[in-house]
Amino acid sequence: MLQRPRRNRKSDAIRQMVQETHVSAANLIFPLFIIDGNNQKTEVASMPGIYRHSVDNLLREVESCLKLGLNAFDLFPNIEESLKDQFATESYRDGSLYLRAIGEVKKNFPEACVITDVAMDPYSSDGHDGIVENGQILNDETLEVLGKMALAHAHAGADIIAPSDMMDGRVEYIRNVLDDNGFTGVSIMSYTAKYASAFYGPFRDALNSAPKFGDKKSYQMNPANQREALIEADLDEAEGADFLMVKPALPYLDVIKLLKDNTELPIAAYNVSGEYAMIKAAIQKGWLNEQRAITEVLTSIRRAGATAILTYHAKEVLENKWL
Ligand code: PBG
Repeated sequence: MLQRPRRNRKSDAIRQMVQETHVSAANLIFPLFIIDGNNQKTEVASMPGIYRHSVDNLLREVESCLKLGLNAFDLFPNIEESLKDQFATESYRDGSLYLRAIGEVKKNFPEACVITDVAMDPYSSDGHDGIVENGQILNDETLEVLGKMALAHAHAGADIIAPSDMMDGRVEYIRNVLDDNGFTGVSIMSYTAKYASAFYGPFRDALNSAPKFGDKKSYQMNPANQREALIEADLDEAEGADFLMVKPALPYLDVIKLLKDNTELPIAAYNVSGEYAMIKAAIQKGWLNEQRAITEVLTSIRRAGATAILTYHAKEVLENKWL
């Protein structure tokens, strides 16, 4: 035998020398859930270790993450039912919970990278990402709401706007609104290939944002499709996106790889709530080794081609020094 691949696996020193993929704090984005009130910290039942924070606690949480070298945060609001309406007006109301949270984080920690979510669902009385009329999700009318939301986020101090709604043409629409208002420096991380996935269940529990009727299949992608992701990627790139995102991550590693091979833009992957819930449930049962399972998940998402990973594991892997 001339080739014995095991020679390059014979010691820790050699294994580390030839290791192709690394995950570091700089690659991680921590999603954080926000709730109204003071000194609130309520655990999401289906996401052990993940909480909804009131703004005062959010600041403490961000501070402790920054100390660990975790610098990027994606914020999501849990909105009281009485504030929701058909047009998601709460999403751009001056003084709203979400806008206050963005402003407070940036005021206290200007060095933190704040990513904001643009979509109607947390504020929509229909629980959909767009305006609903006669059971249909309206595309172009929704763009106006998304534009107002994105502009409000930019005014509040957002570094990166992340549209997760999957309406057609929203990246260009939002780019124009931002540029026309002087926010040429605010980035767009587009949810390019966002699939109509079963794995968002725990997130919708966290925000109480599940659709009140039907599903999201008329705007989120069919899990069976790969080539369609290239259409979305071409459009987002042409429309001015700075990052392309694939979501969820683990069941769609092939899509991450496909986009990586077809764009020069950085790829983000969202290791979603259901992926987190699955891993945590198995760990709680004693069926998986926590450190090994979680680091393997993150490494595989990087290996597939993701530059940045949005993951609920971000803080724990740094706290435990698992990377
Ligand atoms: C909503 C949005 C969702 C997630 C991020 N933004 C849920 C959905 O589309 O229903 C899911 C994130 C997760 O599951 O962790 N626009």
